Formats: sequence, structure tokens, C-alpha cells
Amino acid sequence: MLSTIFAILFYLATAVFVVGLVYRIRLYARTPAPLKIPTTPAPVTRQGVVFRMFREVAFFESLFKSNKWTWLFGWVFHVAMLLVVLRHLRYFTEPVWLWVNLIQPFGKYAGFAMLAGLLALWGRRFLVERIRYISSPSDHLMLILLMGIAASGLMMKYVVHTDIVALKAFTLGLIRFNWQPLPADPVLLVHLSLVLILMFVFPVSKLLHAPGVFFSPSRNQVDNAREIRHPAPWVTELESNATKTGGE
Ligand code: HEM
Repeated sequence: MLSTIFAILFYLATAVFVVGLVYRIRLYARTPAPLKIPTTPAPVTRQGVVFRMFREVAFFESLFKSNKWTWLFGWVFHVAMLLVVLRHLRYFTEPVWLWVNLIQPFGKYAGFAMLAGLLALWGRRFLVERIRYISSPSDHLMLILLMGIAASGLMMKYVVHTDIVALKAFTLGLIRFNWQPLPADPVLLVHLSLVLILMFVFPVSKLLHAPGVFFSPSRNQVDNAREIRHPAPWVTELESNATKTGGE
């Protein structure tokens, strides 16, 4: 019964997550950015923009320039989470890929780094007056959700172990549509329930900054406002009408 409920919830959550993200990304891609507003100094070529975007995504460059503490905590949290998530691939692949095996030892400590980063980011929302003032419930709830996932994961890793072999049979069963029983350990159920909540809320949450950063006009535009004229569509239309009527 429990396994069936979780199996159905995982299929639903995956559908909401994938369809929601595709919908959002299409919306971002179609939103007009009619003005040239790259934050200067900005790259003057397309390759330059790709390099800038890479620095932004891999190193959080603009955050580094604006606040060193927030950058440190935010960057540590994100890199650690990436490692943790990649480490989790061993629960979903059979045989486990070599590189996933190789990162296991680092991933182990990444769980702590992830939690520490999240705690520091949460502390910032209480301790920095300016940030406390602008923090909304969703800012707190998202941090609490991620901290709950990390804490329950670490609990399983170091305190109350779960049956990883049975869990893997369950996850592979989901992928292969051959359902298997889910171990009923409370901490695992908490971990998975929080992950389900994360998947359901992701497409309507502030976590959309992850795909959203690629659509930020101030970061993804080439600084060529002086080299090329960028008329709005109605200007081009007016001009072509004017040529047709002999410039009147
Ligand atoms: C369906 C998806 C997931 C499953 C089946 C799952 C399962 C597990 C299991 C079994 C452990 C214990 C590892 C061990 O005892 O060696 C664990 C640990 C952990 N999980 Fe998850 N998890 C999932 C998703 C996530 C997500 C999305 C995150 C982060 C956003 C996350 C964060 C963690 C952390 C931080 C740990 C502790 C450190 C580690 O062992 O890597 N988990 N997870």
C-alpha cells in the first residue's frame, strides 16, 4: 500500500516537475526583451556572452562582486548539493557508472557542507536587518525544505541506516514500470516525502532562478548597441511604409 502510494506520487511529481519546467522555460524564452540592457562592462561578442554566462553559473560571479559572505555560503551550498545529487545517481542506475563511483567519497562530506551552507544562508535572513525585512515566508520555507532533505539524508547515512538494496530495487522498479516494495523506515519516508514536495513546488517557486538565470537580459545580451541599430518591430514597419510612400 505504502509502496503504491509513493510510486504514484513519484510519477505525479515527475510529471508536474517536467511539464512545469518546460512550460516555465518556454514562457521565459518567449518573453520579449525589447531593450539593450546588458550590465556593463559586458562582452561585445556572442562567445564572450557564453563565457560570461559560464562564469555566472559555475562561480556565481555577480554575487561574488556584490557580497562575499552570501557568495561563500551560497556557492558552497550549491556545489555541495550538485555533488550530493550526482552521488545519488547510484540509486537510479544499474550498473553504476564509473565516475559516479569515483565521486562517492567526496559526496559523503558534501552532505555536511550543503547543510552548513543552508544554515548560514538561513542565519543571514535573521541576522542581517535589511535581508530580514525583505524575506518572505517562501524564502524561509524553501531553506527549511532543503535543510530537511539534507538532515534526513545525513541521518540515514550516519545514524539510522536504511536498506539501500531494497530502496534501489524500488527506484529501478519505478523506472522500469515493475514496482517493488519500498523500505518503510521513517527517516527514508521523511526524506522521500520532502523530495516529493520539492518536485511539486519547484515549477512555482523561487528555485526557478536555476533555469531563469539563462534568460536574464542583463547577463545574456551582447554589448553591441553602438555597432548595430536595434529598432523595435514597429520602427521597422514605419520605415518600410515610409519607403513605399516615398518618404512621406
Ligand atoms: C528520489 C530521490 C532520492 C532518494 C531515493 C534519496 C535517497 C537517499 C538515501 C538512501 C540516502 C542515504 C545514503 C546512505 O546511507 O549512504 C540519502 C542521503 C542524502 N540525500 Fe537523498 N535521496 C533522494 C533525493 C535527494 C535530493 C533531491 C537531495 C538534495 C536536494 C538529497 C539530499 C541528500 C543528502 C544531503 C544526503 C546525505 C549525504 C549523502 O549521503 O550523500 N536527496 N538520500
